Amino acid sequence: MASWRLLVVLVTVGLPLVCLARYDDSKFGIFIHWGVFSVPSYSCGGVAAEWYWNGLETGAGNGCIQEFHNKTYGPNFKYADFAKGFSAELFDAARWANLFKKSGAKYVVLTSKHHEGFTNWPSPQSWNWNSADVGPGQDNVGLVTEAVRAGGLRMGLYHSLFEWFNPLYVTDRSNNGSTTVYVDTILQPQLHDIVNRYKPEIIWADGDWEMYDTYWKSKEFLAWLYNDSPVRDTVVTNDRWGKDDSCKHGGYWTCTDRYNPGVLQEHKWENCFTIDSRTWGYARNGGIGDYQTIDQLLQELISTVACNGNFLLNVGPTSDGIITPVYEERLLQIGTWLDFNGEAIYATKPWRSQNDTASSVWYTAPKWSNSTAYAIFYAWPAESVLRLTQVVPQSPNMVAQLLGYRGNLAWKLNGNTLAIVLPEIAHLPPLLQVQTAFTIKLVGVQ
Ligand SMILES: *[C@@H]1O[C@H](CO)[C@@H](O)[C@H](O)[C@H]1NC(C)=O
Ligand SMILES: *[C@@H]1O[C@H](CO)[C@@H](O)[C@H](O)[C@H]1NC(C)=O
Ligand SMILES: *[C@@H]1O[C@H](CO)[C@@H](O)[C@H](O)[C@H]1NC(C)=O
Ligand SMILES: *[C@@H]1O[C@H](CO)[C@@H](O)[C@H](O)[C@H]1NC(C)=O
Repeated sequence: MASWRLLVVLVTVGLPLVCLARYDDSKFGIFIHWGVFSVPSYSCGGVAAEWYWNGLETGAGNGCIQEFHNKTYGPNFKYADFAKGFSAELFDAARWANLFKKSGAKYVVLTSKHHEGFTNWPSPQSWNWNSADVGPGQDNVGLVTEAVRAGGLRMGLYHSLFEWFNPLYVTDRSNNGSTTVYVDTILQPQLHDIVNRYKPEIIWADGDWEMYDTYWKSKEFLAWLYNDSPVRDTVVTNDRWGKDDSCKHGGYWTCTDRYNPGVLQEHKWENCFTIDSRTWGYARNGGIGDYQTIDQLLQELISTVACNGNFLLNVGPTSDGIITPVYEERLLQIGTWLDFNGEAIYATKPWRSQNDTASSVWYTAPKWSNSTAYAIFYAWPAESVLRLTQVVPQSPNMVAQLLGYRGNLAWKLNGNTLAIVLPEIAHLPPLLQVQTAFTIKLVGVQ
């Protein structure tokens, strides 16, 4: 592991610092899970929709996927036959990009290939199992990448290292990685291909956990990526590059899905989170209760950013290419919230204190100042007085403002409790009145 560590040190301290800073400033991105799994689009028994094929083969979820499949398509219907139904006939990349932009997200990460092995671009290593040869008959990665960039957002690609049922991989694995036929003939050519073709600003690896990074040849790939590839000056990566690497090595850390430790982490990290709590790929079944409310999503975003994380929020488009109205509404709601409160999110750094138990408050601070802090609170306090215990004014001239509202707020220090008198809700702009989280900007704090 020593040389790996050395490489990672070179990699994270060398060239990509600028890129990591830009990634850090952006704070909020959109994750997209789209593939053949979007066709059956069914989740049950804890099996996420994008794991449908796995559920079909292994009986995971107490056989509930098999049961649904047998009943709906018949036991002889092969998973591969779903690809024909990946129609994308209502897909409009510019419309997706416009929605992402309105959400306030600054980057997008799309599944170039999930564990099923189907590629969303015309991969020569995935003949007849890619979005150009079968299904939509188009380069999904290319179309989304172009539209996202035209909208002024940065583009990243998710790539699954393993493919559950690829016979080459299954054989390598049964040889405990002493053969690397799958890595040499499929994985590495594909990783190089997506970098050379689309020049992604993020490579989001996954599906790494069954084998060590030596098998995947992750070190070799990352050395090329950071030293010689066309994105060497712009790319950042995550940490899922082999068994035991996650949360220890690589670029920013993802650790687990929905990782949100709730306390400051020194190493840059990301909370990948999903709007439909059951699944990352679209699921037709279920109901509104399965989708996170805007309050829940804002609490994830805020607590994540306060503790040095980025928030990567997932949508699962349908096989015909729609981002359904529930997803759409959540993204637009976040965008409205960020219109008022974005100053307390983008380009911020963690403050000396992350939270304040007094009233569910999270703190951030702008990178440009050491004497300014933002206190973001979830619920409007009783009698419109917000009490904070972590703030120390530099002087009686400290200024307290509510983002979105003009004018300074009166405050009083009593011991270590700072009481801030909020305006009357009725005096706020109408769109601010209906928010469930608000920001106090404090200028002149110690
Ligand atoms: C579905 O059909 C397959 C093939 O006939 C069978 O092996 C499996 O037990 C069935 N599963 C369920 C849950 O009905
Ligand atoms: C499998 O390979 C790993 C990594 O090379 C090694 O640590 C482990 O001992 C091997 N296991 C067996 C059963 O040979
Ligand atoms: C912040 O949250 C942690 C974890 O819940 C808690 O232990 C701590 O007391 C909180 N800090 C303050 C200042 O309330
Ligand atoms: C804030 O403080 C840190 C640590 O002392 C220092 O490195 C940095 O330059 C300061 N930033 C500003 C904007 O004053």
